[in-house]
Amino acid sequence: MVRFAHLSDIHFGMENAPAVEATASWIAAERPDLTVVTGDLTAFGEPAEFASAAAWIGALHGERLVVPGNHDTPYLGVWERATRPFDRFEGSFGPADGLCWSNGAVCVAGVNTARGIQLRLNWSKGAIDVGQAGRALQALKGRRDGSLGVVACHHPLAEMVGGPMTARVRGGERAARRFCEGRVDLILTGHIHAPFAMALPHADGLTYAVGAGTLSVRERGAPAGFNVIESAEETIKVTALAWTGSGLDVWREWTLPRRR
Ligand SMILES: [Fe+2]
Ligand SMILES: [Fe+2]
Repeated sequence: MVRFAHLSDIHFGMENAPAVEATASWIAAERPDLTVVTGDLTAFGEPAEFASAAAWIGALHGERLVVPGNHDTPYLGVWERATRPFDRFEGSFGPADGLCWSNGAVCVAGVNTARGIQLRLNWSKGAIDVGQAGRALQALKGRRDGSLGVVACHHPLAEMVGGPMTARVRGGERAARRFCEGRVDLILTGHIHAPFAMALPHADGLTYAVGAGTLSVRERGAPAGFNVIESAEETIKVTALAWTGSGLDVWREWTLPRRR
């Protein structure tokens, strides 16, 4: 069995401090194989927020893979956001796009769906280009037979029906279809601040979009928390843990049939 923690949208600067502390304690006690953080590490992309985020993530037990979100570009520094949007992120966490982590039982490809500027008013929505999807698929292609193939990015590639906000990812539908056809098992995302799990309606129907909630105080209809993902031979179990004010409790659970 492989187990990993999926955190998102911690938004240091506006983090839910007790929930964040409980999450680090859970990771230290439960020792998942990997911690995936799907973006929005900071509130406004400020250096002090990145410093807090990097210190906290650096102190987490075990290995981790981090991708940026739309909040991880300099919100107020428009010129820097337009010309060097991920310098601050990369100074703390390494490459914003194309990282890959594998342990033989699971292979995770990180994709940066955030942009500092776009040819539309709302630059905070997502985008994924053909090359990014192709590189992620290529990275996952070499994984061992039977190991889990995972894409991690910030914006949900397909909209969650009834979700609290949209991601409107340019190229998202096309990339989602390619990932399904390429037999990716999970696409992990954040952004909407609400956990969910749903099968994508392409290919064999066994590629799942899974969203983690937020660990910030910017809740959107779901309590602060994170996901635990456990993959066995026949199923993938997603458990959304929520901070209750005094501890972590199960908020939602999904058991998903796994591709054989
Ligand atoms: Fe967020
Ligand atoms: Fe976001």
